[in-house]
Amino acid sequence: MKKIGILGSGKGSNFEALAEAAREGWLPVKIALLLSDVPGAGILDLAAKHKVPADYIPPGPFRTKLSPEAEAEYVKRLKDAGVELVALAGFMRLLSQPFLDEFPNAVVNIHPSLLPAFPGLESWKQALDYGVRFTGCTVHLVTPEMDAGPIIGQALAPVLPNDTPDTLHARIQVQEHKLYVECLKLWAEGRLRIEGRRVVVS
Ligand code: GAR
Repeated sequence: MKKIGILGSGKGSNFEALAEAAREGWLPVKIALLLSDVPGAGILDLAAKHKVPADYIPPGPFRTKLSPEAEAEYVKRLKDAGVELVALAGFMRLLSQPFLDEFPNAVVNIHPSLLPAFPGLESWKQALDYGVRFTGCTVHLVTPEMDAGPIIGQALAPVLPNDTPDTLHARIQVQEHKLYVECLKLWAEGRLRIEGRRVVVS
């Protein structure tokens, strides 16, 4: 079975969806390692609950990226665990080209909007403030530019008249949990092919 690694900074609901799908056999991967840049993050507690090996690795002095030394440590730990694909699950830092080169076309992210609309932080709030009637989520390959890589899959969530940022984010997250499992299943089954900017599903 293919081994994947997870990087996350937050509460970990996307990780939990992947862990449950893997346990049920619906998602044919083994989650070999979870790493976080935030000590005490909820995602680390969920890793313990799901018996996934996990660690906090200090990110270094920068706010939006890992230091080169930290990044090398992340790579070493993922490689030592036999990880073939790295799935970002609420990991709030950019990764450098040298990191991405270690896992060619095999670092993926989930983002809470229909990219290329609303990249960056709190995309559900951006969508609400903009006044769009539909938003959603995107699973994409990671490139050094933020939220800009080739798109693997998207799912839709409506914006309802009385939404607050929290109610809208919760509705998007329901879609995220399904979409991430579906997209990683396609990868695990070898059904994704990259043609330039496009990801072709067979
Ligand atoms: C998710 O909504 C994910 O799409 C978002 O962070 C949340 C993490 O939730 N990621 C980004 O905004 C990345 N740019 P989780 O910790 O419950 O999975």
